[in-house]
Amino acid sequence: MLYKKYNFGKITDHMIKHSTFKAVFAAALLSLSFSLSAEEVPLVGNIYGRNTVSLNGEWNYIVDVQEEGYYDYRMNPMPGGFFINAKPRTPKDLIEYDFDKSPSMTIPSDWNTKDEKLFFYEGTVWFKKSFNFTPKQGRRTLLYFGAVNYEAHVWVNGKKAGYHKGGFTAFNMDVTDLLKDGENFVIVKVDNKRHAEDVPTQIFDWWNYGGITRDVMLVDVSPVYVENYSLKLDRENYSLIHFKANLSKAEKGKIITLSIPELKIEKTFTTAEDGSIEADLSAKPVLWCPENPKLYDVRITLEGESVSDKIGFRSITTSGKKILLNGKQVYLKGISIHDEKPYGGGRANSPEDAAILLGWAKELGCNFVRLAHYPHNEYTVREAEKMGIMVWSEIPVYWTIAWTNPDTYENARCQLRDMIARDQNRANVIIWSIANETPHSPERDTFLGSLATYARTCDDSRLISMAMEVTSASNYHNRLQDNMNKYVDVISFNEYIGWYRDVDDAPKMTWEVPYEKPVIVSEFGGGARFGRHGSKDERWTEEFQENLYIQNTAMLDKIDGLSGTTPWILKDFRSPRRVLPDVQDYYNRKGLVSDDGHKKKAFFIMQKWYESK
Ligand code: GCU
Repeated sequence: MLYKKYNFGKITDHMIKHSTFKAVFAAALLSLSFSLSAEEVPLVGNIYGRNTVSLNGEWNYIVDVQEEGYYDYRMNPMPGGFFINAKPRTPKDLIEYDFDKSPSMTIPSDWNTKDEKLFFYEGTVWFKKSFNFTPKQGRRTLLYFGAVNYEAHVWVNGKKAGYHKGGFTAFNMDVTDLLKDGENFVIVKVDNKRHAEDVPTQIFDWWNYGGITRDVMLVDVSPVYVENYSLKLDRENYSLIHFKANLSKAEKGKIITLSIPELKIEKTFTTAEDGSIEADLSAKPVLWCPENPKLYDVRITLEGESVSDKIGFRSITTSGKKILLNGKQVYLKGISIHDEKPYGGGRANSPEDAAILLGWAKELGCNFVRLAHYPHNEYTVREAEKMGIMVWSEIPVYWTIAWTNPDTYENARCQLRDMIARDQNRANVIIWSIANETPHSPERDTFLGSLATYARTCDDSRLISMAMEVTSASNYHNRLQDNMNKYVDVISFNEYIGWYRDVDDAPKMTWEVPYEKPVIVSEFGGGARFGRHGSKDERWTEEFQENLYIQNTAMLDKIDGLSGTTPWILKDFRSPRRVLPDVQDYYNRKGLVSDDGHKKKAFFIMQKWYESK
């Protein structure tokens, strides 16, 4: 997203005469006079392997329902909004906000579970963090956000640093020229209002948690740094590793050193005109797999500055209707998960959250998780990699997106680009998913076809898929027909036999997926309130859900080419679309685990079925 230079727009005499405006206008003029600028820069790869200072912790916040801190009463953006953090300088000055006297919340988090008054809130909240900083000669400083939902305007010391849209991907900006020696402050205007042209669009079956939901940090880099890199095993030749790296600047002749001590690799490369290198290396790594999630210590150094990482090597391909991991057929014993804390809702954003959620998946017998419906926090992906759990990662092109809106496409493409840029070195990530349950139309096909093609230009080493829907079902015969079949490597679809359709008819169902590609059933399931018991024919009882799983798993065994399943869903999760009192209470109850961590009867049906796989 472009950094926009501000102009004052229409300043009327009336406003100048008005004293309040005088004070703020003066402060704004002051802040602009230096015309120092910040620059949004491409996402830096592997932030946790770099030299960083965390800005997590207590941030003051101001709830601003009418965006009073951003627009004037004519709805023109103001030069002197809350982002200048103005303070009265004389007793006469009128400043009608004060971050330091405002409440604070711990960041990263979502405001919905941090402030009960904001449980349902969708709108603007301002956040301010003050911090001390000592500039280092000849160094650059980036400001990095793991994720902010949904739209973020960022200022440092009152000057615009950047803008970002999309609630589940990271972004960073070079703020070196905005920082000063001593006390500094960063202000973020966060807005999670929903719009038809957004990604996701207006309606979705999860809670629209707002806020600065993932880690925030300052990153210390040299004027030219290794922006990103990828290390991948060749898909066919397991003793060949492809190495790519690119600098933050198009500089030729720079020396990059790659060290993988355990593989006795210590090699130097010289950058090309565009500041990149691309090379093949011979090596015989132990291949990453669920039984042995082997990771290698890797260091990439440029002029004494290193980025360290832990990387595994594996090949993921398909052959006919089989999915092959390191050349061997694999069944993806999966479960779908939302990026929500294990207990009581709220965005997940820590290794501890990941360990509990993935621990339940492991107990279920999983070697695979579908991280739905948007890129999850990096801790979950890395924890899964260490635990030997493969990952399906997805962008929130969910239900009916504004297919013909070019901004919507660009937004989706940027989310796809950044999802891949962040996790391209995670051996456990095997599938990029570009969509979920999207209605068929030529416009949709064009949109998704372009996304799938673009994904392959970003990463040609993984499988592409999307969650499709059954298109025809008559006389118990279910047929899936989707033009997108030619763009994806794996045919995945959601089915809700036993819940939204045909209770008790699962045994009669037959399936036709007319494509010579592996099949994943990316969703199936039904709801139950933990602890509610009764007959298997009574909805919301654990017995009903248990029976549904018994019938569905038996039915699934009949699907030709079935290579994986990710039932909907590991845990009950918050949703504004689930309002049934004493049953849902704003939770989607299709979890195999309740919102407070209790396993329902169906959990053990799935566990037993995976033991048989
Ligand atoms: C859909 C959708 C999910 C939703 C689920 C449900 O298939 O993909 O996001 O939560 O159905 O209805 O529970």
